[in-house]
Amino acid sequence: MKDEISLAVELANSLKKKDKLHAYVLTGAGTSRASNIPTFRGEDGLWEKYNFEEVATLNAWLKNPVKIWTFYVEGIQLILDSEPNPAHIAIAELEAKNFCQYVITQNADGLHQKAGSKNVLEIHGNLTRVRCTKCNKKQVFTEPPKDIPPKCGCGSMYRPDVVLFNEQLPSDLITKSFTIAKKVDLAIIVGTSAEVVPAATLPFISKESGVKVLVFNKEKTDHIRIADVFIQGKCEETLPAFVERLSKN
Ligand code: APR
Repeated sequence: MKDEISLAVELANSLKKKDKLHAYVLTGAGTSRASNIPTFRGEDGLWEKYNFEEVATLNAWLKNPVKIWTFYVEGIQLILDSEPNPAHIAIAELEAKNFCQYVITQNADGLHQKAGSKNVLEIHGNLTRVRCTKCNKKQVFTEPPKDIPPKCGCGSMYRPDVVLFNEQLPSDLITKSFTIAKKVDLAIIVGTSAEVVPAATLPFISKESGVKVLVFNKEKTDHIRIADVFIQGKCEETLPAFVERLSKN
């Protein structure tokens, strides 16, 4: 019997056109787990330790920005100290070899770009970036802010440039993501629990449009219902194996 990685390679090869594979990768927190960044759900997930309603919703931000900033300062330090892992590197290699053209990520850690991915759509924002609540000026932090809440030159408060619960995703990015999800030949879904919409609907939109779907995850998720191949395991191990074998064919 063939293993799942062989089946995934076979399927991806059958979709190649002149050595090019028209694909997108959708990533979630599991992709960065091997970079020491905790996931949100599951046993040692962040939402086991923190009540997300107190630190990650629009209401919480409006009620207590200092509390939110205290939570985010820890996160900023964590991601500034992190390095891409073999899963990020394999995804960057997919793009470099023209086996994928877009990375749509729910992660706000910037590790795809650090690994060399060029075309990254950060649909949930980026944790090191802030924006002024009044003049909308954006800035990227290279170290966590010392004064909390940090202030813009105009005197107003900066907020983390991430999408909080109860907020809309940037409409340009989500429209672009839905267009991509429909027009490629292959969707590669990595390390996401399929719990948060609209990102979680992208694989379903792809499937409905006749796009083949590969799911790389440690656990079974709702996406496996529509997966052509489900590659169960740690993505920092399975993805490099997949990319290596795909490159040889
Ligand atoms: N390899 C593969 N998959 C993994 C690994 C790993 N090493 N480690 C964990 N996973 C999987 C888990 O099985 C789970 O399905 O990663 C997924 C992580 O799920 P979540 O923590 O829910 O992360 P994500 O899907 O990115 O969450 C979506 O929720 O709270 C919000 O804004 C936050 O962007 C986030 C969104």
